Amino acid sequence: MTTTSKPKRRPLFSAQDRSNLRWFWSGYLRKNSPWLLLVFGMLALQGYVYKEFLTLTETGLRVIFENAEMRKLIEVCLLVFLLFSVRAILSYLVPRISVWLASSAIAQMRVDLTNHLLRLDLAYFERKKTGDTILRLVNQADGMGMFVGSATVNALRDAIAVIIVAGYLAIKSPILFLAAATFIPAVGIVMLVVSAKIKHVQATAENAMGDYINAIEEMSNGMRTVKISGQEDRERDRLAVSTSGIRKLSMRMEAVQALVLPTMDMVAALAYVLVIGGGGYMVISGGLGLDSAGIITFLLGLTLLFDPARRVAQFFTMLQANLVILDSLRSILLESPTITDAPHARSDFDATRDITLKGVKFSYQDANPLFDGLDLTLAGGKTTAIVGATGSGKTTVLSLITRLYDIDAGEISIGDHPIRDLKVKSLRNAFSVVAQDIVIFNASIFDNIRYVRPEATDDAVWAAAEAAEIADIMRERGDAPLGPKGSQLSGGQKQRIAIARAILQDAPILLMDEATSALDQKTEDKVRDALERAAKGRTTVMIAHRLSTVIHADWIYVLDFGRVVEEGTHADLMARDGLYAAMYRSQKTGYA
Ligand SMILES: Nc1ncnc2c1ncn2[C@@H]1O[C@H](COP(=O)(O)OP(=O)(O)OP(=O)(O)O)[C@@H](O)[C@H]1O
Ligand SMILES: [Mg+2]
Repeated sequence: MTTTSKPKRRPLFSAQDRSNLRWFWSGYLRKNSPWLLLVFGMLALQGYVYKEFLTLTETGLRVIFENAEMRKLIEVCLLVFLLFSVRAILSYLVPRISVWLASSAIAQMRVDLTNHLLRLDLAYFERKKTGDTILRLVNQADGMGMFVGSATVNALRDAIAVIIVAGYLAIKSPILFLAAATFIPAVGIVMLVVSAKIKHVQATAENAMGDYINAIEEMSNGMRTVKISGQEDRERDRLAVSTSGIRKLSMRMEAVQALVLPTMDMVAALAYVLVIGGGGYMVISGGLGLDSAGIITFLLGLTLLFDPARRVAQFFTMLQANLVILDSLRSILLESPTITDAPHARSDFDATRDITLKGVKFSYQDANPLFDGLDLTLAGGKTTAIVGATGSGKTTVLSLITRLYDIDAGEISIGDHPIRDLKVKSLRNAFSVVAQDIVIFNASIFDNIRYVRPEATDDAVWAAAEAAEIADIMRERGDAPLGPKGSQLSGGQKQRIAIARAILQDAPILLMDEATSALDQKTEDKVRDALERAAKGRTTVMIAHRLSTVIHADWIYVLDFGRVVEEGTHADLMARDGLYAAMYRSQKTGYA
């Protein structure tokens, strides 16, 4: 995120802004154009009511000043009342319709943004801060809805009123109108300056808000670490800095916006002075086409004009800020996923065949590839273990065969099919996974297990839970949710939920990344039986630091710094007396 402190002059409507507005219009508003037209019609009617009010007032004044006809006066009063009743009805209907239009537009946009987010690569979420996503989907979408549904509609109503009343005044007395209008360019200049600044401040404010949300999110997620390391003060300070940053920015925003209204007021004052002075002169001189009723109506018209005009001016500053928000919202849609189905991707393939990695090159960051020519064969229907030091790339192998990331060079295939030519969904459906970092949702244990196969029967979920030794706890806790990220469970309990998921998923390929590392020996032995049953006849890849869990594997790869340094059966590797044998022996003595 680039935040320069020097105010950048941004054009009022950049090409990007125009394209964003077009996108919003054609994606979310155009389909409701009949309704929009109706709203527009009602707004125009409101403007017309304004004008009629002026005409009637003038007539009323004439009645009072000139012909003193009581009946006519009552007629005028009734008509004024009628006009305002129409206006009242419209004031009720317009926001009802416009808020409905705006909220459905925003709801649709939220759906689109979420759908798009779900298509993006995992790497996107590892790069982007959660706060930025929350900011867009929650705050910005909300702000946008308010802006479209009320601010814009009100501004339109005001603009129509301004145009109609101004038109009326211009016809009434062109000279006076021109005199009053001489100051309008001043408003334009101030608006230009203000708008450019506002865009900059708004962009900075959005960043600050994103950071704030992030800080809160990190703090609440990391509360255990915060507390145990006594860092409450530091967190408090960190949030205080963010808060004061946001406050400073809102003050800067206000400082910029605050220029608008005084400008309008000065213009109003000057216009009044000219109209009262000039108009008064015209009335006093007589014969210049303006009488007392005329000048009073003109002044009334000016009064009616200024409030909406002020609001229109303010709307322009809001528009600038919302253009920044619109850009930020759309930016999610401009991110494109790279892990997608190839044009002729197939969904049927034999998942029981060997999985082979040939000459695989891969790096998370561009520098220093983690794998540079990695070859591995994960034999179909057999159990292959991958062992090696922490950070050697074991988990990454699993991420690559499931296409969470795409490789930079080489090929990964299942049987004869490179995984790139398979539909991503079918590929991933071929795997049951016990991942190293287990994700537990804030739902019951039962729902957490069923998450991987929503269509599974209750009996199947219970059977998986029994096999994973989690059924007792599941019975005990019943429907109680497990807290955010499963915080109410022990590490081993989470792991057993993950195992139950894998058993329930029952896919042709089973991936286990440190699947039993958090379990005590007795539980591990029981769970291992279930896992061995699950692994039987299935392509299984197991990763473990505790080598005693892999000795029965059909083949073992030893990874070191992203390279295979040894491979073979347990017996082969022990006989070889290399890295594996050394690791195995040191663990054994560790236990004794
Ligand atoms: N999402 C990621 N983004 C950037 N780098 C990553 C990411 N995941 C892992 N790495 C880096 O890639 C390397 C291999 O990580 P990997 O998780 O595959 O190791 P591992 O062998 O599974 O280690 P462990 O035994 O600790 O689980 C590490 O140096 C790690 O820092
Ligand atoms: Mg790992």
